[in-house]
Amino acid sequence: MSTAEFLREHPRTHSCGALRDSDIGKDVVLCGWVHNRRDHGGIVFVDLRDREGLTQVAFRPDSCPAAHALAGDLRSEFCIGVHGKVISRGTNVNPKMPTGAVEVDARHLELFSRSDTPPFQIEGAIDTSEPVRLKHRYLDLRRPALQRNFLTRSRCYEASRRFLHGAGFTEVETPFMVKYTPGGARNFLVPSRLNPGRFYALAESPQLFKQLLMMAGFDRYFQVVRCFRDEDLRGDRQPEFTQVDIEASFVNEEDVQAVVEGMMAEIWRTVLGVEVPRPFPRLSYDEAMARYGVDKPDLRFGLELCDVTEATRVSGFRVFEQVVAAGGIVKGLRVPEGQRLSRKDLDTLADFGKPFGAKGIAFARVQEGGAWQAPFAKNFTPEALAATSAAMGAVPGDVLFFCADKAKVANTVMGALRLELGRRLGLIPAGQWKFVWINEFPLFEWSDEEKSLVAAHHPFTAPKPEHLGLLETDPARVHARAYDLVLNGNEVAGGSIRIHQTEVQARVFKALGLSDEEARAKFGFLLDALRYGPPPHGGIAAGLDRLVMLVCGAESLRDVIAFPKTQKGTDLLTDAPGEVSARQLAELHVRAIEPAAPGSPAAPGSPAAPAAADAATAKSGDAR
Ligand code: AMO
Ligand code: AMP
Repeated sequence: MSTAEFLREHPRTHSCGALRDSDIGKDVVLCGWVHNRRDHGGIVFVDLRDREGLTQVAFRPDSCPAAHALAGDLRSEFCIGVHGKVISRGTNVNPKMPTGAVEVDARHLELFSRSDTPPFQIEGAIDTSEPVRLKHRYLDLRRPALQRNFLTRSRCYEASRRFLHGAGFTEVETPFMVKYTPGGARNFLVPSRLNPGRFYALAESPQLFKQLLMMAGFDRYFQVVRCFRDEDLRGDRQPEFTQVDIEASFVNEEDVQAVVEGMMAEIWRTVLGVEVPRPFPRLSYDEAMARYGVDKPDLRFGLELCDVTEATRVSGFRVFEQVVAAGGIVKGLRVPEGQRLSRKDLDTLADFGKPFGAKGIAFARVQEGGAWQAPFAKNFTPEALAATSAAMGAVPGDVLFFCADKAKVANTVMGALRLELGRRLGLIPAGQWKFVWINEFPLFEWSDEEKSLVAAHHPFTAPKPEHLGLLETDPARVHARAYDLVLNGNEVAGGSIRIHQTEVQARVFKALGLSDEEARAKFGFLLDALRYGPPPHGGIAAGLDRLVMLVCGAESLRDVIAFPKTQKGTDLLTDAPGEVSARQLAELHVRAIEPAAPGSPAAPGSPAAPAAADAATAKSGDAR
């Protein structure tokens, strides 16, 4: 029988995860891959696998000699079709398999294709190196654990779309190939063959287009959309990733947040069967920094930070006093479970802040009676010690940690230390979903070299109305109508209410150091559009990959992206990025250059040079 005949005469009746004891006696056809094959006293057993699960198939020499003979040749990952009868496994039930009560007594075996010996076993947990897995991603993706992630991912798309359609949103596509705006150094560039010397950029997000759609009267837009960013990759970043992008007109922060809460609730309800309590709690950015040291706090556990700058301003301990006198802060963390930290634990934690540029972390054990056991305790005046203990609510048995530094460093270090201690002390419960909105982000932040202000979110974010007056006088203190949604310590969505008045937009560009000409050159089309009755509008984008990663309990974005890039931005399966011929480059009006030696700056005048020069101003002009 040919494969075509088999598929016509024996169309598949069930998936490999479907059969139960209620199916006993049925005539069935299954298709899939040989997960393993065992020969027991003449009977050949095959675990047949497809994306839904495993079913045991038995080939008996007496009931089907031809199929039995063929089954002897089966090897792992051969692709087969089986026609047979569902029978009970009797006393050999396998309670670990959902289909474990039954097996298929094969009548006919169709071999669709053979397989070379795979470079690794198709198992749930494997210790094969990631490069080998990515090179053979189609085999890696056969692993049930990964397949489950993609079925979950698909259900997340479905739930998002269903909810947003139900809430009156219209899905509109926007271009991937967009105008390159100098300054947005994190764009991938695409040379234009038809326009010599000109380039498109791959869109970092649909930000400007969705705002233009509001001006076009679309009112409520969404798009499940790929975004492209040429940034350094980490576990939770990929150069191309997917957003559920949302924009709406005539809305305030609460309206946008209610939409997102509804969408999250729909995903959690339909994909995980979990009701998440709404409304989600809200924290201002300042409060999040004060209490957790980060703008994406993990609220699954306590261990809140405490500012002890005032209590230690005059303390006798010079290390702290000097930092405070110089305008820095002293941040404290009280760990009630401190008794479980050994001397060795504490010593290793003392260096914890080094990678963040901190000068040190000091710690003290609180003894009976309230005295501190610490080398620097003797430097503290009794008054300062009592005031610090009181500010932190310290009781005997606690371990107190301190970091004195510039606010940014002290917060970063203590925020990271909080997480580390939460993990080490087992304080982070599994199976909890702690959503929190972080509101009122600063409008600007200092660039990495701290020389200029850059947009903290993007330059179209509306300042808080009561801070408008500070735009010219003290821009660093302006807060924005911007918000992030954080889940278990991960930023899963970010957005803002936008500027819809040309005059405010011009003032924000000015505060960013953009001259009128530069602003026109970059965003002239937006400034023009703002002149024709723009509605007040705002929106948000959810990072779908991150959400799915959390929903699946996956450890890396790579486990929820079918064909991901490596840390170096390469695709090991297809070997992208690849080289192209000099002829192709000429056709694209791009001059071929010798690749620069690693670490050396791009040669002047080379195509790479403008981007490198722009890197310094990266965020200020970003249109994401
Ligand atoms: P933002 O840049 O904050 O906002 O992105 C929104 C969300 O996308 C996810 N995300 C990423 N996921 C994987 N890999 C990456 N490299 C990556 N970068 C971002 C995050 C983030 O919260 N246009 C604005 C949104 C708006 O203002 O409406 C924007 O793109 O989960
Ligand atoms: P030193 O006087 O430098 O030996 O520091 C005394 C203790 O204070 C040591 O445990 C240091 O790790 C710690 N320490 C030093 N600088 C800081 C700082 N800026 N913030 C917190 N602790 C610090």
